[in-house]
This record gives sequence, C-alpha cells and structure tokens, in this order.
Amino acid sequence: MDKIVIHGGKPLNGEISVSGMKNAAVAIVLSTLLVEDKCLIENLPDIADINVSLEILRSMGAKVERKDRNTAYIDTRSAKQGVSPYDLVRKMRASYYLIGAELGRFGRAYVGCPGGCDFGQRPIDQHIKGFEALGAKVTVRDGYIDANTDEGLKGTSIYMDVVTVGGTINTMIAAVKAEGTTIIENAAHEPHVVDTANFLNACGAKISGAGTDVIKIRGVKQLHGTTYPIIPDMIEAGTYMILAAATGGRIRVSNLIPKHIDSISAKLVEMNVNVEEEDEAVVVERKGDLSKVNIKTLPYPGFPTDMNPQIGVLACLANGTSMITEGVFENRFRYVEELKRMGAEIKVDGRVAVISGKGELMGARVRAVDLRAGIAMVIAGLAASGITEIDDIYHIQRGYERVIEKLSAVGADIKLIHVPDSGAYDKTE
Ligand code: UD1
Repeated sequence: MDKIVIHGGKPLNGEISVSGMKNAAVAIVLSTLLVEDKCLIENLPDIADINVSLEILRSMGAKVERKDRNTAYIDTRSAKQGVSPYDLVRKMRASYYLIGAELGRFGRAYVGCPGGCDFGQRPIDQHIKGFEALGAKVTVRDGYIDANTDEGLKGTSIYMDVVTVGGTINTMIAAVKAEGTTIIENAAHEPHVVDTANFLNACGAKISGAGTDVIKIRGVKQLHGTTYPIIPDMIEAGTYMILAAATGGRIRVSNLIPKHIDSISAKLVEMNVNVEEEDEAVVVERKGDLSKVNIKTLPYPGFPTDMNPQIGVLACLANGTSMITEGVFENRFRYVEELKRMGAEIKVDGRVAVISGKGELMGARVRAVDLRAGIAMVIAGLAASGITEIDDIYHIQRGYERVIEKLSAVGADIKLIHVPDSGAYDKTE
C-alpha cells in the first residue's frame, strides 16, 4: 500500500481547480444502465470509485470508452442483468445505486450488499422501503439483495423516515421508468440529488422538485442518450478552502458553485478567515489567529458531515475550545485518535467532540481511516511542524483526483511513496 510523506509547516499559495463531484458521478454513471443508449459523461473525476463504477458496467456488458481522463462514453444498450461481481461491488458503498438502476431497467436486481459501517450503522432500509413501495419484492440473504417485480414497477407515494441521500437517489432512479407517478416526500436536498435528476431529465425522464422536500417523478417508457457534465465537487472545494485556512496561505479554489459551499464559507469567516467569493471561485486567506468554532453537521444545506474531519483539524489549529456535533452518522470521529498522535487534545462523547485548540499540530505517523478522515490527515500534515507519514492512503485515492499534483502546485512538500499492495480496500461513502 502506498503512503504519503509530508514536510509540513509552509503556507500554501496559488490556485486549485475542483474536479467533478464524486457522489454525483457514481450515481450518474450507474444510472446510465437505465438509459439503454449512448451517453457522453463529462467532468468525470478520475478517482478509484469512478473507475470501479465503470468496471461494474463493463462487467455487465456495457461499452465504456474513456475519451480522455475526465470524459467517458458509456453505451448500455448491450448490458445484461446478472450477478454484479461482488469483488467490485464491495469496493464502494455507492454500488447500492445498481439496485435501483437494475430494477428500473430489467425489473430485477441481484446485488451484493454494500458493506462497511465505518461511521457506525449505515442501513439501507429506506432504499428497500422505496423499492417495495414501487412494487418490488426484496429479500436480503447470503450477503446479496434480491429485488424483483413480476408486473413491473408502479408509481406511488413514499415518505422517507429519515433524510437519506442514497435512499432518495436510488428510489428516484428506480421510479424513472415505473408506470404512473411517484412522489418522494422528506427527500434529501443535496446537490448530487439535483445533478442526478438533471442528468436523467436530460435523457428524457420527467423529474421535478429535486432539491426540495418533495420530488415528483412521472414515469416514462424510454430514455435516450445525452451529453452531460457532472457538477463540481463541493466537498473537494471545501477541503481545499480549509487547507488554505490551516496552512495560512492564500488559495484560489476555482471551478466551483459558491452556493454549494455557503455553510463552509460561513464557518471559515467565523474562524477569522477571509473568503472572497467570485462567480465560480473563492479566494481563501487566513487573517490572523484562527478563532474557536461550534459546528453541527446536518443534511444539506447544513454543514456537511463529509467536512467533519477537515474542520476538526482546523479547530485543533485554532485558539480556544471548539465543539463539533455530528448530526448525520453515529460515529464520524475515528479520525480523532489519529489527530491525537499529532498532539491534538480532543474528547469525544458520543456524537460530540470537544477540541481544545492549541494553535498547532506536530508531524507524526498516522493512518487514513476513511476517505474524509484521510484527507484531513493531509491537511493536518501540511499545517503541522515536522514530518507526517500517512498510511492506508487508498481511502484518499477513492475520492480526490490528482491530489499530490494539485497540492504540489500550490507549494506543498508532499510525496507519494509506493509500498507493495496488500489488497485491502474500504467501502465507506
Ligand atoms: C451519502 C454520501 C456520503 C455522505 C452522506 C451524507 C454518497 C455515495 N455518499 O451517503 O458521502 O456522507 O450521504 O451526506 O453519496 N439511513 C437510514 N436508512 C437508510 C439510509 C440511510 O437510516 O436506508 C441513515 C444513515 O444511517 C445516516 C442518515 O440516514 O444516519 C443519512 O445517510 P445517507 O444520506 O443515506 O448517506 P449515504 O447515502 O450512505
């Protein structure tokens, strides 16, 4: 397994361009199965999760051709329903979108359970509730989800018991070709829900209300191919904004949608960081010492749970006591033990972390325990004095495109060291 070695403590300056959004791209790529035609997907992030998604489609008989690093033709006309290879499906949590896409296309899905409970329990009962409401019989056995419908899916009203991004998108995907109208209430509002709906609409679906509590899907018989650019990744954008604040430099984070990062900008401003908004970029610069902050992670448009570890690092670099309350997952604080190796003082009680900021961190050997925790270690290492070595970095490579290249371009002393692979892989997001 490769590792990252960082010589930290230098302010970083320059520009970082944000890639396409991982969580929109995985949903869009897998939902091309429903389209039964040729699509050209642009602004695809070149990350492990997308390569796995494309590989899953290939294994089902779809034709996939990369035009360049960030553009791919996907033609799903010849795709066949079968058993999706478990060794691919287990590699990422988002493979649950295969269930909605296979059900919508073939009336049957047989997909390995997305494993991994890295932030505590991550059930998919609301996805199953959605499929069953549409008329599918769903059984879970031997680590597989078997969903099928003899008479086809039928539109209906579904109330989601919890606000779930995956459950909303998956039910929406399954309902696109169902007979009649489906209404999803208490839907998630995340930009990737909207982007997936926009892609499906560009293919001829009739989805309205994505981005609000109520999504209405009028079923259509057929979809057609399209050319579609994925939106920029708000979590990658937020990560590099926090990097600028942590290292004390001035970074222009470009190719983003400023509205999507409002909650992150607001917290940075509270912490004494300057955030200058442009049309499709923000310039982030620390004004002086960082101030303490209180944060609760929430579904969009609240502060994202996927930014919890990164803002946790920033709180360690602030002066005073900060509090982070995790409002989405049971356990998102696995990064805390790693940060403690770097001199952080943090107490976790259930969903609350109390961080006694000392204004500094020290380099150490740490692990990337999951994707966002991993990139948080990179931020910590770049802000810390001395040398930081990060193990298990395959987590980071799942979601951050060309991370070493992007960071080196703003002056980071960061290197990827190749260590022979042991074959491990996580399946968090
Ligand atoms: C997605 C994102 C992940 C992000 C999360 C929250 C992808 C691929 N991953 O994950 O990066 O951290 O949204 O923004 O887009 N829940 C249930 N039953 C369900 C589904 C979810 O109880 O059937 C609960 C979860 O345990 C959690 C909450 O609902 O407490 C939100 O989870 P959800 O929004 O579904 O997260 P994911 O789709 O797994």
